[in-house]
Amino acid sequence: MAPDTVLSLVGLARHFISGGETIRVLDGLDLEVAAGERVAVMGASGSGKSTLLHLSAGMDRPDDGRVYVEGTDLADTPEPRRTRLRADAIGLVFQDFNLIDSLTVAENIELPMWLNQRPMDGGKMRDLAAELGIEALLERLPGELSGGEQQRVAIARALVHEPRLLLADEPTGALDQVTAAGVLDLFDRVTAGRDCALVMVTHNPEAARICDRTLWLRQGRLEAE
Ligand SMILES: Nc1ncnc2c1ncn2[C@@H]1O[C@H](COP(=O)(O)OP(=O)(O)O)[C@@H](O)[C@H]1O
Ligand SMILES: [Mg+2]
Repeated sequence: MAPDTVLSLVGLARHFISGGETIRVLDGLDLEVAAGERVAVMGASGSGKSTLLHLSAGMDRPDDGRVYVEGTDLADTPEPRRTRLRADAIGLVFQDFNLIDSLTVAENIELPMWLNQRPMDGGKMRDLAAELGIEALLERLPGELSGGEQQRVAIARALVHEPRLLLADEPTGALDQVTAAGVLDLFDRVTAGRDCALVMVTHNPEAARICDRTLWLRQGRLEAE
């Protein structure tokens, strides 16, 4: 493993049993993502893209293989250290934003800091909100925002604790084309300015524009185009 590797997946395997049949979703998959590198992962619906991200984030355990986040094997790390490692090193962005409706925008953004028991200063919140163009929305509730605005808030939340790895699962999948392009530009800016690696699962062909590599998930493994 190169010393600047943020995420390393080695021989990753995950299968599910459905109707008595074994579906080998991931079947000996390998991936190395360097610090600051941006990787787009494309693939048919049901090819295992979300499974791949869940395993990378330590939200699911592989049936075989290794998941190293900054050199620590997540599969081998027991709770609660695994949760702490994930909370500290990783930011997550989802297709449907996953904001907490009863919390304000500012409170949503602060959540990872609470989870990491780290202080949040007002200056940092203002800078981050300005960077994402959501300064005017901080005291609003998520339900009052458009999809594009909600995704900007979700990206702020994913970045607030300064993770080295951002994982995004179809982050533009619920947005119209123009809004989606704006969100991709944001991913471009926020990762470039931070030395934060990005693995983005997407159906959006525009995503390749902001990524260093595009890989395809086929038959449980990743292939270059
Ligand atoms: N927890 C689960 N139990 C059973 N089958 C699952 C589970 N999670 C995913 N699958 C199956 O694994 C395959 C890949 O799912 P997923 O990773 O969500 O694909 P994608 O994100 O590429 O659309 C699908 O056939 C799905 O039904
Ligand atoms: Mg999916």
